[in-house]
Amino acid sequence: METTRKHIFRGELSVPGDKSISHRGIMLGAIANGTTEITNFLQGADCLSTISCFQKLGIAIENKGSQALVHGRGLHGLAAPSQVLDVGNSGTTTRLISGILAGQPFPSTLDGDASIRRRPMKRIFTPLSAMGAHFQCQDSGCAPFTIQGGNLRHIHYRSPIASAQVKSAVLLAGLYGDGITRVTEPVLSRNHTERMLAGFGADITSEGTTASIRPEPKLEAQSIHVPGDISSAAYFIALGLITPGSEILIQNVGINPTRSGILTAAVAMGAELTLLNERNVSGEPVADILVTSSSLHGTVIEGAQIPTLIDEIPIIAIMAAFAEGATTIKDAQELKVKESDRIAVVSENLNAMGGKVTPMEDGMIIEGGYPLHGAHIRTFQDHRIAMSFYIAALNADGESTFDDRSCVAVSYPSFYQDIEVLMQ
Ligand code: S3P
Repeated sequence: METTRKHIFRGELSVPGDKSISHRGIMLGAIANGTTEITNFLQGADCLSTISCFQKLGIAIENKGSQALVHGRGLHGLAAPSQVLDVGNSGTTTRLISGILAGQPFPSTLDGDASIRRRPMKRIFTPLSAMGAHFQCQDSGCAPFTIQGGNLRHIHYRSPIASAQVKSAVLLAGLYGDGITRVTEPVLSRNHTERMLAGFGADITSEGTTASIRPEPKLEAQSIHVPGDISSAAYFIALGLITPGSEILIQNVGINPTRSGILTAAVAMGAELTLLNERNVSGEPVADILVTSSSLHGTVIEGAQIPTLIDEIPIIAIMAAFAEGATTIKDAQELKVKESDRIAVVSENLNAMGGKVTPMEDGMIIEGGYPLHGAHIRTFQDHRIAMSFYIAALNADGESTFDDRSCVAVSYPSFYQDIEVLMQ
């Protein structure tokens, strides 16, 4: 890729549908009664993995481009799969579907790609086993594994980590429990599962960091319009902010407060961001975001903020490299077990470009203001690394090369085309 500093980025775009919400729409649609219609459904590889898993569980799903129709068969309508459920690269598919499979009276085997085979699954085995599901897995505690469900007990699970995937797995299993299941997290993680379950008619309440669900609801099919993914918008927020002379309007972005930490962090760094046309769509807050190029300065990102921007830390690190002064990111040890070890991989690539990053056990310190130059980027097939460093490369001097650019298809198949449209 040839990059120079000559481009500016101006115009409007809509980013694709939210990945977390698209997954959940398929899953809840599958166990609801009737046909759920999902519009602006994300056609990313991860969400297609969720569709294919539920098809193997006997659910008819029509994927018609940005619309998906899920012909739900009710809470007890899934059929035993005759093949391995292939979750591809998707941690969300693996962990959330396990919550549902924990309540089924048949065994299912899950497997995925090389990255999934390294990601920790004991975090869901522990609570789901306490509820009565049985797991068979190699010592690694990673995929592949087999889950035998049925006859679940209710629990109050005090999760040691703030993970929406763990919380969601337990709440989904709680649909099949024998009493009210509760999950308490150390810090609130994204709450799309709770919101969508309520929309489908489940009896679910949230108080602080505890969510509680009553079993055996009658879930009714819904029409869901998926907002644009703030995690995808994040690349354009960064691009607009760090490229002098740029102005980008990103339309229809989900701004759920459990997801919108990138906005707070960017504003703390001096970003000029304006939220327009704030509204509610399918139970989720949505807005258009106007981004104007800004002089950024360093900040500290930590504690309860972390789950609200966990997937955006690679691109925040890029913003930090273009900011004055140091940015410290801490309490983010979860970065090590994402699609790649994002502490190591962000540090390696940013330092290769001439940045100054010190990796830490639970985050990193980025000294801003060191001019970036082109480099060879190792993505480790991690979509968020590829996209973050593409944004960095567009603002670096000289050429950058990537070992793999196609992995963006996991969450944002049209990423490169959308950048082209704004480029002037
Ligand atoms: C997700 C939750 C987060 C996030 C992931 C999607 C979800 O993972 O990083 O990309 O849709 O529930 P954790 O729950 O493991 O933090």
